[in-house]
Amino acid sequence: MEHAYRFSVAPMLDCTDRHFRLLMRQVSRRCLLTSEMVVARALHHIRAELSSTRAAEAQARLERLLGFDPQEHPLALQLGGDDPALLAEAVRLGADWGYDEINLNVGCPSEKVQQGRFGACLMAEPERVARCVEAMTAATSLPVTVKHRIGIDQLDSYDHLLHFVDTVAAGGARRFAVHARKAWLEGLDPKQNRTIPPLRWDLVHRLKAERPQLLIELNGGLEDPATCQSQLAHVDGVMVGRAAYAHPLLWSGVDAAFFHDASHEPARASSVVRGLIPHAESWRAGGGRLWAIARHLVHVVEGVPGARHWRNDLTQAAGQRQAGPEVLEAAALQLEERGL
Ligand SMILES: Cc1cc2nc3c(=O)[nH]c(=O)nc-3n(C[C@H](O)[C@H](O)[C@H](O)COP(=O)(O)O)c2cc1C
Repeated sequence: MEHAYRFSVAPMLDCTDRHFRLLMRQVSRRCLLTSEMVVARALHHIRAELSSTRAAEAQARLERLLGFDPQEHPLALQLGGDDPALLAEAVRLGADWGYDEINLNVGCPSEKVQQGRFGACLMAEPERVARCVEAMTAATSLPVTVKHRIGIDQLDSYDHLLHFVDTVAAGGARRFAVHARKAWLEGLDPKQNRTIPPLRWDLVHRLKAERPQLLIELNGGLEDPATCQSQLAHVDGVMVGRAAYAHPLLWSGVDAAFFHDASHEPARASSVVRGLIPHAESWRAGGGRLWAIARHLVHVVEGVPGARHWRNDLTQAAGQRQAGPEVLEAAALQLEERGL
């Protein structure tokens, strides 16, 4: 658990749901996983419904937003919001639910999030973020961490970044995961904001050098384990998003390399698929579709002859409404027969 942030998987809406997180847990037992962003205000509304006639429905929605498998630990809940009271309420809920850490999103530039006045636009309001973090830390003994950008729009100087981090650290933030790109809130969409503004790892290195007492994680554009490893000379941890989602098995050496834990065999495609079968059984028993799990699995086989064929078979079989764990069993067998 300790220092799990040395290697973490970034929060990604539509990607880091409970199924993908369990998939990544087959790949690394030690890394820190993070939920998709959950909006604090949404949790507040759902909680209010718990004492109404729609309580059962509200409980099911909470389960959908917050539910996870115990195997997913260590696991952070990422929250979106700008209201200290609502965030504190969401923190208490997350802590009761059993999360290990609470992370505040100050990096998302989507229009929807901006309309709610949270996400990356909060980089313009360090004092408000500090008040949010204060309220969040007062509500729990769990670490409260912040994920943010190096700047937004015209507020993109290193001095502003330092001022932001100092102010929020004074509010009690335990760690900063820095996406080493600024975000243009007007003019670029979220996808462009993950590619067009240049990566400035150097600014994150400087931040760590000038604030050695703070825990700083580097995020953005990290594409392979060797690069991540070399970054640990400059920062306390690395956070990987798209490269983990698109190439999960690339990271099968993470436990040995980042956590000095060689107690288990590096994951293979077949072991990942097989490892998800118990989850698929309980998910199906609860009425869920197999596709919700299988859609993430298409990335575990790549770069070998027949990969496309395997993916097509899986997609077709798992896409059927009645598909169950036997589809994963067959997919795992195919891989085992080929030594994958
Ligand atoms: C599909 C997608 C969804 C994302 N959703 C979130 C999110 O919910 N919260 C957040 O803080 N960042 C989100 N991000 C940003 C990532 O966490 C990360 O900061 C970004 O992708 C840069 O890291 P990478 O280059 O390793 O992917 C998302 C990124 C992607 C690609």
